[in-house]
Amino acid sequence: MCGIIGYVGKRNINEIIIKGLERLEYRGYDSCSITVIENKQINVHKTVGRIQKLKEIASKQPFKGSVGIGHTRWATHGVPNEINAHPQFDCKKQIAVIHNGIIENYHTLRQWLISHGHTFVSQTDTEVIPHLIEQYYQGDLLTAVQHALKLIEGTYGLAIICTLEPDKIVVARNGSPLILGICPDNEYIVASDASAIIDWTRKVTYLADGEIAVVSPQGHRITNLANEKIEKNTEDVLLDLAQIEKGGYPHFMLKEIFEQSETINDALRGRLGVEHGIVRLGGLKAQITVGSKHMKASDFLNEAERIIISACGTSWHAALVGEYLLEALAKIPTEVEYASELRYRTMLPDAKTVMFVISQSGETADTLAVLKKAKEHGMVVLGIVNVVGSSIARETDAGVYLHAGSEIGVASTKAFTSQVIVLTLLSLFLSQKRHTLSDQNRKEIIDSLQEIPSQVKHILTKQDEIKQIAQKYFQFNNFLYLGRGVNFPVALEGALKLKEISYIHAEGYPAAEMKHGPIALIDKNMPVVVIATDTDDLIYQKVVSNIEEVRARSGNIIAIATEGNDQMKKLASEVIYVPKTRGYLTPILNVIPLQLLAYHIAVMRGCDVDKPRNLAKSVTVE
Ligand code: G6P
Repeated sequence: MCGIIGYVGKRNINEIIIKGLERLEYRGYDSCSITVIENKQINVHKTVGRIQKLKEIASKQPFKGSVGIGHTRWATHGVPNEINAHPQFDCKKQIAVIHNGIIENYHTLRQWLISHGHTFVSQTDTEVIPHLIEQYYQGDLLTAVQHALKLIEGTYGLAIICTLEPDKIVVARNGSPLILGICPDNEYIVASDASAIIDWTRKVTYLADGEIAVVSPQGHRITNLANEKIEKNTEDVLLDLAQIEKGGYPHFMLKEIFEQSETINDALRGRLGVEHGIVRLGGLKAQITVGSKHMKASDFLNEAERIIISACGTSWHAALVGEYLLEALAKIPTEVEYASELRYRTMLPDAKTVMFVISQSGETADTLAVLKKAKEHGMVVLGIVNVVGSSIARETDAGVYLHAGSEIGVASTKAFTSQVIVLTLLSLFLSQKRHTLSDQNRKEIIDSLQEIPSQVKHILTKQDEIKQIAQKYFQFNNFLYLGRGVNFPVALEGALKLKEISYIHAEGYPAAEMKHGPIALIDKNMPVVVIATDTDDLIYQKVVSNIEEVRARSGNIIAIATEGNDQMKKLASEVIYVPKTRGYLTPILNVIPLQLLAYHIAVMRGCDVDKPRNLAKSVTVE
């Protein structure tokens, strides 16, 4: 949600800021800007829409300066127009502020500032910040920012420049990520995430909530709101540059779909003891503190009597698959909660409950809030996270990384399959100490897990077949997705993929629930995607009955079925076959054709699949 970049140094400021914004565009693309201090004046290019447009404007009128900031906006307060685009200014246009987050008490602050003679031009919450800084400015920008931020309630990642102190950027963080990239010779790049930094330096410092940094050619200094100096280490970012390029694919989403045989391998790597049928999760060896005791996270987990998993979006769907697996394989009661709901619910922690939070980005505001709340209640919180060094990865007691590499396409694909893999490993891991599976049984599942990457590769060869199906159906306006058991969350995920990138209304439903509502909608204009793989005989037969019910109402069935199931050709209008695997592993295979189907339908409808309207990859606001 909004990308922030800032640069202090002698290189071409336009190139650094625009390139950084291109990398951050996945965070929001309602409007964007580049702002540079030139001759003690603030100069800005702003535009509604994409970075490409800004790039064209900036190439015609490039800035020359050594201090600048760039912003890409995902609108929260105020429509996407040039006035609401960041930066926002004070009355004299001496202070420019770019912001990621939400200022919750902006209305009160705005009224107070108006009563002190300030005038406002935008509808944004952000605009109160430059005015507050102006109100408190007495010759030192940092002091004025510290004063202003003490009055602010809400979340922010901020970058602030001021013509009165033209050689510096002040950045501050509370709830929205900010990273300092430190180049040699006191040259700095600050950004919302490392992808915008790594072209120039790999040395970074992650700001924590409540911290403010000043960067200038004289060096950098980090303090808190009380102006106490904070010493921080620099760390090396290991992100791979090739990971954040399209690599010949037309879209990041397609590239990421095709990476899945590799990313699944990466999630499995080093975690399986194949011969003995054991699972190792190194991240859970970390020492955690529970009350006054220190112990390994895995020891605590092995004694746990209940698991709560909290997440948002696609990560929440992965968590739902995890619920089935943890209960079936590790026999541990598991509940899955939307983070946005759980953060405001009454939390009833007990000493034998462990919470997992799942997040691709590691920055989702609601998930982070649940994590903080659970920790305040004394709970142990473990993470399943993709982005190394992200806020959620840092604040959890311990956790397991996905190692899926950067995911740029707004619609999550490879993160989902890696999350399901990690949850499968976790279930098998817990089954070891709890003796809920025989060694033989676990070994068989591990053997099947090892076949998954090549099976995924095989499914990806069916792209043309799936494209032909997309061709037949891309003009329909409503879709229903049905699945049962462990594939019910896959139906939800398939529907989410379609709706988020193609803007077709799509609903996922447990197949048997169809008769309690959605069946009323079925006619020849409602394609029904049914996951009908051989999960187990009983469920399969029930799903076949649901297919018959749809056929009886002239609905078109697109079935995902197991290779060799010829019966399905007679039942469904279209069949996409996937290789046979164990029931609990079917979600990982079944979701791949659904990702491809959504992708091709969206492309055929002319949609921008990597940057669907109104959505953002990393939702750092409530
Ligand atoms: C946004 C993204 C989704 C993602 C969700 C949760 O809505 O567009 O793709 O699933 O946030 O994000 P997280 O990074 O926490 O997994």
